[in-house]
Amino acid sequence: MTNPKEILKETYKILNSDDPEYISSIYYEHINPNLTKVIKLAGYAKIEHSAKDHIILAKNNGKTEEYIDCLGLYGAVLLGHNNEYVLNKVKEQMDKQCMPTKVFLSSLYAAAAYLLANLSGLDYVFFANSGAEAIEGAIKIALASTGKNKILSTYNSYHGKTLGALAVTGREIYKKNLPEILNVSFAKYGEIQDIENKIDHQTAAVIIEPIQGEGGIIIPPPDYIPKVRELCDKYNCLLIIDEVQTGLGRTGILFEHQRYNIKPDILVLAKALGGGIVPVGAIVANQKAWKIFQENPLFHTSTFGGNPLALIACISTIEFIIQNNIIDQVREKGQYFLNKLLSINKPEVVKEIRGRGLMIGIELQEDHYAASIFSSLIKNNIITAYTLNQPKVIRIEPPYTITYEQIEFVASKIQEAIDQTVELFELA
Ligand SMILES: Cc1ncc(COP(=O)(O)O)c(C=O)c1O
Repeated sequence: MTNPKEILKETYKILNSDDPEYISSIYYEHINPNLTKVIKLAGYAKIEHSAKDHIILAKNNGKTEEYIDCLGLYGAVLLGHNNEYVLNKVKEQMDKQCMPTKVFLSSLYAAAAYLLANLSGLDYVFFANSGAEAIEGAIKIALASTGKNKILSTYNSYHGKTLGALAVTGREIYKKNLPEILNVSFAKYGEIQDIENKIDHQTAAVIIEPIQGEGGIIIPPPDYIPKVRELCDKYNCLLIIDEVQTGLGRTGILFEHQRYNIKPDILVLAKALGGGIVPVGAIVANQKAWKIFQENPLFHTSTFGGNPLALIACISTIEFIIQNNIIDQVREKGQYFLNKLLSINKPEVVKEIRGRGLMIGIELQEDHYAASIFSSLIKNNIITAYTLNQPKVIRIEPPYTITYEQIEFVASKIQEAIDQTVELFELA
């Protein structure tokens, strides 16, 4: 089709369609054929229509279906979909100014930077538009500020899929056919000895998640993060803590690393920072990490990063979290959920259930049990997914708005799905 008016007509037909087969065919032709197959196979070929808190409404040929969101956009939607407080603040800002000049001062930028610097005990803030972009900036700033050339990361880590973020991600499958663009080595997560073996005086930074999220909700031993901090001090390198997924209360504390009474040199945030309304990423850092900006104030910039909509979303998200004791609620609901799941006693299928706050992982004995469990859950209108690096681990990351009754319902359906898996694979 080449006539622009005809193309537009078809575009609106797609936009107004509630037929999953038709939308799948467009996905197949214009987005990603194999991904479309996976979506269909997983039973996720539904058309999302609207969302409120932890409930997603999907349309299917005239019918409306209701789903409980236990995925929360891979941990990003902590406050629930369309949180009214943040949404209204963003709408008010929209009427005033959406895009910045980037040459005048912005009281929004100043306020958001003040807030993050003070909550983290660090000094400086740079706003980006996503997790990977913030990671990318953090690595670049660390290399330039230290003048060293090596980065130490961990196996099984996940830091995003742009080239730099991917270079420090500990999963080979996403790097196929790509050249090595950074000097990165990897240590075993949770094993301090391996960090000690691989760190040296040319190491610019160690980058680490305080809980490996996409790696399968892996919680390190209690002395691990403090010891990584000590080693960074010993070798005069920067500690970059990636709290893109754990930050802002997801694990029942504002920043997961604060559990250990240590401070990173660079803290990276995204996901929950925009309140589920506007994408926002942030690099928060101390003086040492910011050295390069003394030489060149324009060393790192972004046209859209720190736009007024993102900034008001960030400020009002943090305000909402603080004023409504969201973190206490996350901790209590998370513990309740975890306890319910821990009562599932099916060692043939489940290897371990673990988590902090509303970041819970169910590790299965075998990868292929996951499909049977997802298919049963989606039939019961519950959305979950596995962790990106570890298909054996089902993640439970609902918004904090999920009720105790719904937690009980979801836990009972997970139990049912596991029982069915035992039967299906004749494991009893
Ligand atoms: C720990 C961590 N870092 C970085 C990222 C990348 O964030 P984004 O998907 O916004 O680029 C993710 C995404 O899941 C993450 O979990």
